Amino acid sequence: MGKYVIIGKNIHIGKNVTFGNNVVIYDNVRIMDNVKINNNVVIYHDTVVGENTIIWDNSVLGRIPLATSGIKRELKENYSPLTIGSGCIIGVGCIIYRGTTINDNVFVGDLACLREECEIGCGSVIGRGCMLNYNIIIGNNVRIMDCAHFGGDMVIEDNVFISPHVCSANDNYMGIKKEVIRKGATIRKGALIGTNVTLLANIEIGEHSIIGAGSLVNKNIPPFKIAFGVPVRIIKDVPEDIIKRSEN
Ligand SMILES: CC(C)(COP(=O)(O)OP(=O)(O)OC[C@H]1O[C@@H](n2cnc3c(N)ncnc32)[C@H](O)[C@@H]1OP(=O)(O)O)[C@@H](O)C(=O)NCCC(=O)NCCS
Repeated sequence: MGKYVIIGKNIHIGKNVTFGNNVVIYDNVRIMDNVKINNNVVIYHDTVVGENTIIWDNSVLGRIPLATSGIKRELKENYSPLTIGSGCIIGVGCIIYRGTTINDNVFVGDLACLREECEIGCGSVIGRGCMLNYNIIIGNNVRIMDCAHFGGDMVIEDNVFISPHVCSANDNYMGIKKEVIRKGATIRKGALIGTNVTLLANIEIGEHSIIGAGSLVNKNIPPFKIAFGVPVRIIKDVPEDIIKRSEN
C-alpha cells in the first residue's frame, strides 16, 4: 500500500491489488484481483475495475459529467457506473467518465479522455491524446491512433482502423439550426481511415472502404471503395487481397 491512500466506504479490493502514493478511492468502488493502481489516481463512486488491469499515474476514473448554463446539451441526472474490464491498460493522465463501459483487454493511451456513455469493445486501442465525446460505440479490435477527436454520437464497428488526427463532427451547423439531428459518423467493419481525415455529421463509411489521408468526407461512401479528396470522391474498388488481409 502506498503512502496517503484514502479509501471510502463499502469498497471491494481483491487479492494482490497494489496502490501507489496519493490514491483516492470513493465509496462503493470494486477493484478486482491483481489490479495495479499507480500514483495520484482518483477513482470516483461505484466504478468497477476488472482483474489484471493497470491504471497508470494521474488518471481520474468515473468522473461525473457536469455542465454550466452555457452548455446546450442536457445531461442525464444519473449515469451508470464506469466499468473497466479485465486485462486493460489505462495510460498516464487519462480521464474516463461515469456512464462509460470499457470491455476486456482494451488499451487506453496516455492523456486520452473518454466522456459519458461510450462503449469500447474487447481488444480495442484508443491512442494517446484521443478525445472521445459522449455516446460513441466502438466494436472489438478497433484501433484508433493518437490525437483522434470524435465529436460524439458515433458508431465504429469491429476491426476499423483510424489514423492519427482524424476528426469527426456530429452537427454540421454548429448549434445555429435548432431542428438538426445530432449524429456523428457510422464506420462499418474493417474500414480504414487515413490520417487527418475530417468526417462531417451523419455520414456512413461502408465496410472495408478506405478513406485517403486528408479527405473531407461529406457524403456516404459505399462498401469496398477507395475514396479520397476534398470533398471526397470515390476513386476505385478496394483490391480483393487487401480485403482478405484485413479480415484475417
Ligand atoms: C488513399 C490511398 C490508400 C491510395 O493509395 P493508392 O491506391 O496506392 O494510390 P496511389 O498512391 O497510386 O495514388 C493514385 C493517385 O491518387 C492520388 N492520391 C493518393 N492518395 C491521395 C489522397 N489521400 N488525397 C488526394 N490524392 C491522393 C495520388 O497523388 C495519385 O495521383 P496521380 O495519379 O495524379 O499521380 C493512400 O494514398 C492514402 O491516402 N493512404 C492513407 C495513409 C495514411 O493515412 N496512413 C496513416 C497510417 S498511421
